[in-house]
Amino acid sequence: MAIWHINGGKRLEGACFVQGSKNAVLPILAASIVCPTETDLLNVPQLSDVEASLAILRQLGCTAQQQDNDVYIDSRTITSNEIPQSMMERMRSSVLFMGALLARCGEVRMTAPGGCKLGVRPIDMHIDAMRALGASVEERGCEIICKADKLVGNRIRLPYPSVGATENAMIAACAAQGETVISGAAKEPEIEDLQEYLRKAGAYMNGAGTSAITVSGFSAEQHIGHRIMPDRIAAATLLCATAATGGDVELRGVDFRQFYRLQHFLKQSGCDIISSKRSLRLVSDGKLSAVGRVSTGPYPEFPTDMQPLLMAALLKASGRTEFIENVFDSRFAHTKELARFGADISVERRKASVWGVRSLSGSVVSATDLRGGAAMVIAALAAEGGSIIVDSGHIRRGYEFLDHRLRALGADIFMEL
Ligand code: EPZ
Repeated sequence: MAIWHINGGKRLEGACFVQGSKNAVLPILAASIVCPTETDLLNVPQLSDVEASLAILRQLGCTAQQQDNDVYIDSRTITSNEIPQSMMERMRSSVLFMGALLARCGEVRMTAPGGCKLGVRPIDMHIDAMRALGASVEERGCEIICKADKLVGNRIRLPYPSVGATENAMIAACAAQGETVISGAAKEPEIEDLQEYLRKAGAYMNGAGTSAITVSGFSAEQHIGHRIMPDRIAAATLLCATAATGGDVELRGVDFRQFYRLQHFLKQSGCDIISSKRSLRLVSDGKLSAVGRVSTGPYPEFPTDMQPLLMAALLKASGRTEFIENVFDSRFAHTKELARFGADISVERRKASVWGVRSLSGSVVSATDLRGGAAMVIAALAAEGGSIIVDSGHIRRGYEFLDHRLRALGADIFMEL
């Protein structure tokens, strides 16, 4: 349990580097067992989800350790293909070990993954992708047993560009005989980072970042070195916080091309954004205008993970902003908590309407999930007076030292464990 103490109303100013990407490193950690190899990863964020993945790797018999932002994995010794429920339930990404263990061992026993409560989050597309490669998948109670004497290349048609199902298919296809084409694939930048890692591991893979990814063989490498890409959602969090409080913050080491949709809305709200090849600077007077309609969708549409963040930034924006959540069927739990600050939000199925209020007042709120918790931090920074956020561990799953980073930018924030 963590308790966040925030005294709002302070402008944010300065420059900072953004953490490594949670959603890039988690599939790469699973992929590190596809072949018996040593992996050195740089720029790995210190997160509880990373710890959970390293614990699974150790449970499987690997050496897996993190020292600051460096991670070393030796997957030459795998002694198990079973992941206990207690480990599966800690996060959604545990499901990515399905493709990796099928590729390495030809069999995997696991249960359904955990993760943020954003509605029903089935894994049918993951299972269908494994079956398309020749695996049998049996669900016995809460246990899922996948087996494949050998994986055979095939066409995998994803009915929806699921990020996780795309990643599971890419990882499993590395061990398939013959060519695999994944059509309807997700195009998120994290998918491209996974492809870069798998290529270094010896995969012949093309197309990540488009809707068609081809895997045509694998020749295992002994050692892989890889630097994890910056976390675009963590970057968006700092941009939205600066927009909400008013300030002048430069983020370094980020690829501005990954923020087109967010930049569009923040500029429309009245912020100035100056972007260069590897940095983004946002200047705001904190007096924002509503932006009309924000509709989430698969990349490169507006990311669902940024929906709670932009909503929190626009709580005082003059006018009305409508948020349409098209990716998850229940991703507005944070709106009730935001209302405790005095926000004016109404929710009707997949639409949340936000009317800007003149001011927000500090309050005691709970983090509902990872990005909902970040939205609470943003709202508390923009509110007048003191706030307390009670967090059962959601924020630390995805943010590395968020309190330190914000304090360095001028926020009056303190987090006690
Ligand atoms: C990844 O989750 C991210 N997590 C999520 O970020 C992100 O919100 C999501 O992609 C969408 O961009 C990681 O990368 C670890 P999906 P994932 O499969 O892979 C449905 C965060 O805050 N679906 O693209 O689980 C599903 O229910 C997290 O960092 C099926 O129906 O997302 C959802 O409605 C939250 N069947 C939609 O597809 C399946 O087999 C998108 O899910 C798989 C998914």
